[in-house]
Amino acid sequence: MWHGICNQPAFVAPDGVAPMDTSMTQNRPHSDLFRPAAPVPPPSRPRFSQVIRGMLRADFSHFSIKAYEKAVYPIPTLGRRVLMPVRPKPLRTVLAEQHPNYPKSQVMQRLLAPLINDGMFVANGDIWARKRRMLEPTLELSRLKVFLPLMQGAVDDMIARLRARPDTAMDVDIETMRVTADILCRTMFSERVTAEFVDELAEAFRRYQASTPEFMALEVMGLPFWVLPHRVLKTRRTSRQIREMLARLVRQRLATPEEERPDDLLSSMIAAHDTVTGHRFSEAELIDEVVIFFIAGHETSASALSWALYLLANDQAAQTRLRDEVETTLPPGPIAFSNLRKLRFTRDVFRESLRLYPPVTCYLRDPQDQADLGRTRVRARDLIAVVPWFVHRSPKNWSHPNLFDPDRFQTEGGRESTRKSYIPFNTGPRACSGAAFATQEALLILSAVIRNFQVDPVAGHTPQPAAWMTQRSRNGVWLNLVPRTSASAQT
Ligand code: HEM
Repeated sequence: MWHGICNQPAFVAPDGVAPMDTSMTQNRPHSDLFRPAAPVPPPSRPRFSQVIRGMLRADFSHFSIKAYEKAVYPIPTLGRRVLMPVRPKPLRTVLAEQHPNYPKSQVMQRLLAPLINDGMFVANGDIWARKRRMLEPTLELSRLKVFLPLMQGAVDDMIARLRARPDTAMDVDIETMRVTADILCRTMFSERVTAEFVDELAEAFRRYQASTPEFMALEVMGLPFWVLPHRVLKTRRTSRQIREMLARLVRQRLATPEEERPDDLLSSMIAAHDTVTGHRFSEAELIDEVVIFFIAGHETSASALSWALYLLANDQAAQTRLRDEVETTLPPGPIAFSNLRKLRFTRDVFRESLRLYPPVTCYLRDPQDQADLGRTRVRARDLIAVVPWFVHRSPKNWSHPNLFDPDRFQTEGGRESTRKSYIPFNTGPRACSGAAFATQEALLILSAVIRNFQVDPVAGHTPQPAAWMTQRSRNGVWLNLVPRTSASAQT
């Protein structure tokens, strides 16, 4: 049953065994903290038909409170058994300690094959290890300094676009999608793409991802994708379009003499070689990996930023604190790399947004051999679904899990929960390679928007979380961005 979206404390998490968190946000009691939009879980276990309906709607409204509390929750399906680890121990087993027994699922490979073949995001075993080794230097911390001015250019353009708008109410999702696509294009291809190219590419990715909930539901029912022939053909057409758009840029760069290539992500991928085997990426492999960076790093960052702005709009005290921090830490003019690290509260707001609305909705794994996951016996034909939404909102893992409380990361209890039960970027060997990149762009975007705009909710609008391939809002994220005129309002 759909219980709607609540802004009210309709679901009061029982006091569990989460480390007690005695934080007070700047002396604010927990009762003053914002409780953001989330479905209210039904009290009992859902029927299979409810699960399928929920999957097609792509929300978590059909998951009972048990899904938030059990160590390993069995998601009811007709065919393959799906197990969802929620508590720290089984999570650690699957994602880190026994990860070779839990490689990435073939479900993900089937969903993404038309776009990325066996690129790093879905590959397993030696192929994955080689690609990860080769791509590691591309995103290492020292490279972030090189990307800073490229990211800054895209953020400046976004602020100019927003300031030029005649109306203040907007679906910020559209702008966060645009600026994160722009950042990826600039850091990948330097300045060589137009705004139209960025928009066309972002739109093609949106169309591709829109079909994933239906394909996921077919997987759970054990049906082939071809029962939806129109969808399959449409998805193939879209993936061809995306690959061709990016392939043209890869070929242009390969034709450019080495000494004339700009210092960006693509040049770094072309130069990558495996220190063990000497292997270099072929043209087709390069296209796979470029597409992966867009899949992994575009909607994810956009989703995180839209939710962060929604949270700040609804917690004006946090918004003012963030603005004060930005204005005292970042002098006017180009932002120094070293200053970004000082934005502690801004970073905690971003981390808290990732906890409440983790952008990657599901990490799927195929167990290879039978094994014990706590008290649950895993069989080789089961599917493991790690869903960070439940990990992050479990009252057993976090204190006051449904409240927006950026200060929790500075408390002892919050730090312990972070260590054990905070997985927006995954953990272990398959953890996100772009986490530092994503954090840097988020700090730049959040600080620029809050410095330049007063951000308020739009009356009557409550976003409805939808677990598509990334955690989005079905009805957009509508906010009022009112330009600020003070001298410090600049990027
Ligand atoms: C807020 C933004 C982001 C979030 C929340 C995020 C989250 C994740 C997660 C959860 C995974 C692992 C998925 C799984 O194990 O099934 C992952 C993998 C990955 N991410 Fe990110 N990501 C973000 C941004 C980025 C960016 C900006 C890039 C690149 C520029 C990137 C590149 C990658 C790559 C290449 C992988 C595959 C790593 C591997 O399989 O070894 N991500 N990301």
